[in-house]
Amino acid sequence: MSEAVDDRISALKQTRLWTEIRKLKHDLIIRFAKRENRVYTQFYRFPHQLRALVERVVPALRPHGVGAEPLKILVFACCSGEEAFSLSYVLRRHFPELRYSIRGYDIVGDVIEKAKAGLFTLEEASWGPFVTDELLGEMFEPAGEGLLRIKAEIREPITFAEGNLLDRQFMESLGQADMVFAQNVLFHLPRSQAREAFRNIHHVLTAGGALFINGVDTDMRAQMTKQLGLEPLEYLVEEIHNDARVDRGNAWAGSYVGRKPFTRSGRDWLRRQATIFYKAR
Ligand SMILES: C[S@@+](CC[C@H](N)C(=O)[O-])C[C@H]1O[C@@H](n2cnc3c(N)ncnc32)[C@H](O)[C@@H]1O
Repeated sequence: MSEAVDDRISALKQTRLWTEIRKLKHDLIIRFAKRENRVYTQFYRFPHQLRALVERVVPALRPHGVGAEPLKILVFACCSGEEAFSLSYVLRRHFPELRYSIRGYDIVGDVIEKAKAGLFTLEEASWGPFVTDELLGEMFEPAGEGLLRIKAEIREPITFAEGNLLDRQFMESLGQADMVFAQNVLFHLPRSQAREAFRNIHHVLTAGGALFINGVDTDMRAQMTKQLGLEPLEYLVEEIHNDARVDRGNAWAGSYVGRKPFTRSGRDWLRRQATIFYKAR
């Protein structure tokens, strides 16, 4: 390209028009891109969301202390278990008296087997920007042959099994849970299936329970949460959004998994960007 063209493109990139073009490109990708399942996860993926869970959600669900009733937690699309293990670690650390059960489900048998084993290489365990040496030391113990095993007290409250969010009969068999996680999965489903999954997820959440739903198209998130009477938690919303942007950063416009920069303007900005919602009582 000639220097003059390069200069004009550089100048265009500094303008508001460029940002609007990128947003339009992203919106068209959201509307028309083919969705594909991806088996990918990390430990401690959204640290600010876990902080919101500790500082707001658990106290709201157990206002009189950790209580006698165990918290029932479902983690859909759990992949090889990193999300469920990170959650269990945080609950153990901050609420040592809390009783809870976590059930993780995924449609891919191989990742469920890996989750059940709870064994990871150092590379797998430390993948992702928020994993520190301190976290590794607190979550894992050496298991020989270069492998690390999730510590027993973190593993024990968790069970893993195959299960499909789109299987209504399976979903109805689960009963209702205080907290439901379905993260980074709905944006990989065709949009009509994502809506169906959203309704199934809502069905298994108890009244007053908390839904964690990062990784769903923002227009659908606003529309479905409104339709289903889910109320957003306005706490650390920008920080959680930015944790999720780490993956793609400034390359957000070219992919349906990219996240637009955070904004407090526009209709429904909170519903579009919040990742934690409460079901009406
Ligand atoms: C990108 S991973 C997300 C893992 C994890 N939730 C996280 O946020 O790091 C998406 C996972 O969703 C699973 N999945 C896809 N469709 C599903 C469905 N209909 N029911 C349950 N799990 C599904 C995939 O097999 C994959 O393991």
